[in-house]
Amino acid sequence: MIRGDSTDYDLLEKWTKDFDCQGYKTCEIGVREGLGSKIIMDNVRNNYIHVGVDPYANLKYQHYDNGPAYTADYTDEMRDTMLKDFKPYRNEGKFTLCNMTDTKFMNDTEHKNSTFAFVHFDGVHTTRAVITEAIWFANRCAPHTRFVFDDHNTYQMSTIAHALTFFDFKTIEMGQNKCLLERKI
Ligand SMILES: C[S@@+](CC[C@H](N)C(=O)[O-])C[C@H]1O[C@@H](n2cnc3c(N)ncnc32)[C@H](O)[C@@H]1O
Repeated sequence: MIRGDSTDYDLLEKWTKDFDCQGYKTCEIGVREGLGSKIIMDNVRNNYIHVGVDPYANLKYQHYDNGPAYTADYTDEMRDTMLKDFKPYRNEGKFTLCNMTDTKFMNDTEHKNSTFAFVHFDGVHTTRAVITEAIWFANRCAPHTRFVFDDHNTYQMSTIAHALTFFDFKTIEMGQNKCLLERKI
């Protein structure tokens, strides 16, 4: 069974249901067991491919602003189980794992030229990490793009949402844990 570690998955389902990706990619930063990615892949349409970005490897890192660095349970065994669970999606060319950090992903020439229509931000929960990712993806987004941020109460979401207004994103809906921003031009 593919599990998640947050709430508001019903909202993620609502925001992805029949969302037209216009032939562009979708992405989730921070895959863990895979529930977020599964919901995205099961519900969007006209998606080129879904890209999961996650280093796993039980890394010790700072999870939150002003918090200490610690390891969680994000092990390579978890990655291998996720890859097994996602075999049907991988066989159909619907999913690929970039087994690396957000920083490495964003510096990779291959990904710098991609365009994304839907992104779920659920990796490192510091304001610095999330705003860096958000601006990177905002520079590579489709005419109609949705960004979903998980655990938005744990970092400075209002600062991030304000920065994204300069890329024509508007805040559409705020859940307890997840929120939706959209750009439609
Ligand atoms: C909160 S969990 C993701 C939960 C998942 N999206 C879900 O819906 O169940 C955070 C994930 O972020 C990953 N992660 C840690 N550091 C990262 C980094 N620098 N870049 C991308 N992902 C990272 C962890 O390995 C972990 O799997």
